[in-house]
Amino acid sequence: MPRATLITNIGELVTNDEQPGREGGPLGIVRDAAVLVEHGEVTWVGAAADASAHTPESGVELVDAGGRAVIPGFVDSHTHLVFGGDRAEEFAARMAGRRYEAGGIRSTVAATRAATDDELRARLTGFVAELHAQGTTTFEVKSGYGLSVADEERLVRLAREVTSEVTFLGAHVVPFEFREDPRFDGDPVAAGDAYVDVVIGEMLDACAPHSRWIDAFCERGAFSPEQSRRVLEAGRDAGLGIRVHGNQLGEGGGVRLAVELGAASVDHCTFLSDEDVAALASSDTVATLLPGVEFSTRQPYPDARRLIEAGVTVALASDCNPGSCFTSSMPFCIAVAVRDMNMTPAEALWASTAAGAKALRRSDVGALRPGMRADLVELDAPSYLHLAYRPGVPIVRRVWAAGAPMA
Ligand code: NIG
Ligand code: FE
Repeated sequence: MPRATLITNIGELVTNDEQPGREGGPLGIVRDAAVLVEHGEVTWVGAAADASAHTPESGVELVDAGGRAVIPGFVDSHTHLVFGGDRAEEFAARMAGRRYEAGGIRSTVAATRAATDDELRARLTGFVAELHAQGTTTFEVKSGYGLSVADEERLVRLAREVTSEVTFLGAHVVPFEFREDPRFDGDPVAAGDAYVDVVIGEMLDACAPHSRWIDAFCERGAFSPEQSRRVLEAGRDAGLGIRVHGNQLGEGGGVRLAVELGAASVDHCTFLSDEDVAALASSDTVATLLPGVEFSTRQPYPDARRLIEAGVTVALASDCNPGSCFTSSMPFCIAVAVRDMNMTPAEALWASTAAGAKALRRSDVGALRPGMRADLVELDAPSYLHLAYRPGVPIVRRVWAAGAPMA
């Protein structure tokens, strides 16, 4: 790598660093801009005309953005990318009118357990290339399709090979060997309680060393608020940060539990009571909305405007998984959030970058200012508005992660 890279002739630079004289409020837009990158970090941002005064005299690679827009790399704070098989048939049945239910997860569990490490790794590596090509430079990956001590350990270990943002989601659903265990006599609560004992015992011990986060699917058909609390508290006691899947299929208590436990993020937030919104508004917990899920399950979209107007920090993420939403595209999520959730293009971009970083409690990504990791995306467009204006078009032209060209 050259000692420094100067990306110049940027028609519209979104910094997410609001300053006097910049446009777009929180987006901190600089026109006719340049960014200097050294040792993987942004070291200077400003008007292209001023760049030479800040640029080293030698060893600088010049990149001409040709008047196009440059934005911070997307931060996708919610994915499930380690799995075997797919559920295209389930998707087709849904599009023919069947409802989405959490139970489909078990078929992915069977396919994942049957896959070798190398098969899972090859798939995962393919998804990572897909993410980079679409402008995602920071991403979280959850386990949750292993659901045995050995398989969950495998999934977090493989996830750790591609990201530091690994989430242990042993509490995704209760696996069939517990649900069908005659000891529980068909009682799903007893089966769930017994499975939670394993999740917070041997499974947590095996997975915590590879993980940064603990998560639980707090929902009818998955885990009750009481069971989720046991999982999340045990994870916290093992040194993990908390995130929650909540309120996806109904007002299940997940949001209030997340806020009470100081979770970094509660994800889905599709069905919220006034109390849930008030709890989020008075907390540091980010509400992460996953528009691809509602798109792919034909559920109603979450009410982003209600959350934003209440003062809640709203992030967008893909939730890329084989069941409820199999897109890895943040531009697609932005387009849906703008078109169908009434977010402005500016809110949707901020939610996919700066707020995604907040959802992962990261202060080194999500904005372009000196000291931040040099994660940049050049769009094949003059403005970030084209992310929503040109849905489905491959609009990402070049990507740098920590200053290194990725795509
Ligand atoms: O985030 N909600 C729980 N987990 C995933 C779905 C997983 C699946 O259906 O395989 C989600 O939507
Ligand atoms: Fe999810």
